[in-house]
Amino acid sequence: MRYPNLISWMVCGLLLGAAISGRGAAVAGKAPRLDHTGGATRLMVEGQPWIILGGELHNSSSSSLDYLRPIWPRLKSLNLNTVIASLSWELVEPEEGRYDFTLLDGIVEAARRHELKLVLIWFGTWKNTDGSYAPGWVKTNLVRFPRCQHRPGVNTTQFSAFAEATLAADARAFAAVMRRLREVDGQTHTVLMMQVENEAGVMPVSRDRSELAEEAHRKPVPEELMNYLKAHKASLIPELRAVWASSNYRESGTWSEVFGDTPAGDEVFQAWHIARFIGRVAEAGKAEYPLPMYANAWLVQQRGQEPGKYPSGGPVAKVMDVWRAAAPAIDFIAPDIYLEDFKNICAEYTQSGNPLFIPEASRDERAGLRAYYAIGHHHALGFAPFGIDSLPATNVLGEHYGVLQQLAPVLANHLGQKTLRGFLQYRDERRLELDLGDYRAEIEYRSEDPGRLGGGLLIATAPDTFLITGVNYTIRFAMPREKSGQVAWLTIDEGVFRHGQWVPGRRLNGDEAGYRLNLGPRPRILLARVYAFPEK
Ligand code: DGJ
Repeated sequence: MRYPNLISWMVCGLLLGAAISGRGAAVAGKAPRLDHTGGATRLMVEGQPWIILGGELHNSSSSSLDYLRPIWPRLKSLNLNTVIASLSWELVEPEEGRYDFTLLDGIVEAARRHELKLVLIWFGTWKNTDGSYAPGWVKTNLVRFPRCQHRPGVNTTQFSAFAEATLAADARAFAAVMRRLREVDGQTHTVLMMQVENEAGVMPVSRDRSELAEEAHRKPVPEELMNYLKAHKASLIPELRAVWASSNYRESGTWSEVFGDTPAGDEVFQAWHIARFIGRVAEAGKAEYPLPMYANAWLVQQRGQEPGKYPSGGPVAKVMDVWRAAAPAIDFIAPDIYLEDFKNICAEYTQSGNPLFIPEASRDERAGLRAYYAIGHHHALGFAPFGIDSLPATNVLGEHYGVLQQLAPVLANHLGQKTLRGFLQYRDERRLELDLGDYRAEIEYRSEDPGRLGGGLLIATAPDTFLITGVNYTIRFAMPREKSGQVAWLTIDEGVFRHGQWVPGRRLNGDEAGYRLNLGPRPRILLARVYAFPEK
């Protein structure tokens, strides 16, 4: 376990602070990339870890630069460091082969001017399963660009994942976007990652029933998938392994023979083909400019829900292996979390080495607490409530992000370490204990305003020194259960980080310190040192 001494922490903080707050001049060189060393996945920007304190714009906001103009300052006031904005195929390629990059160039330029980074969403063939963002010349040619059919012969507004022409057209447009992005941002790295399509899948049935799909369904399961399943049988996500077990793990055969003629078997079939499609779109884009790319999921809404009631074939956690086998150019899959059970969903999406990134989440008062948890507990790449442009500049999220912005240089230094812990109160949960090296943190949730949840994160910067933040909980430190002795506060400073340097404020003692430190309802940062002493 590593505890950087204070000096190295300060130097590191200065470097990271400049990078993460966007003040550092972008340096020519490596594009943003994912680094998988040291037990965590980091988004590396200008060679430094970047933690996305984000927000996703509403769907239509980024279709007008004038509409966006007054929004950028508000996003800055909310202490975002990254904005998630969409690019639509219909506005990028209004006529086949004629590309219009006015919006792309304008969004990148405006973000840069406001010292904000971007994640861009490619609204192409799929947007919440539908094809509404395809250009008119694609929408109106059902022969060349065939539709998904829920019943044989009955067209829908969803495109079929089995249509090579649709894949080729989508991939060509996305490649043109990535080529433009390399031209305008390849040295300045305003854009950090790309989301390829949006909440892909088939609804309200479990698979496409068009003739193209039926033809594919009659074919043998591709060797690539079978080889992946055989090679990873022991580590497959349990739900997927159970579907394969239905045929007693057949290692060849048609989709029905290997996975069964069931909604679950249909979902595997659909997932392979949608992931294959999106993976090839991503490959075409990466060939031009290899930014990290991911796919986002409309989640299973309740345990046991059948595929089709949620988008079948989309990147839900249980088909993570299928997506990994089908789409190697997709670096990870990401949950859009609007459900109550935030912690379990985060756990589902960190299985099998998938890094956690939450591109969409509810933008209510819990958002800031969820950011502490995603970053502190799962060392997430980042967090972004949806519809961020609906929030006023004074929203409490801005205070939570303000604290996280200050801490970002230190957080980045502890990713993948047990010295960084996060927590989030769930329903009537009252207390928890966290081991932090030589000590045990005892946390009790307490809110002056009943119904307000608690949450926060702790960073052990030395064996006896802790940065503490969050709201609506009290904390004290004790000896690990297996050791005897007492622990008490040595010093507790309230303070802020300015340009990566700690600037202490009040020294808390007496009523403001006490046996248990009360974090209260407003986010702040405390730097506390403790000491142990023998009971006898
Ligand atoms: C999830 C989608 O991914 C977003 O684009 C948006 O439609 C939200 N749902 C609306 O809640």
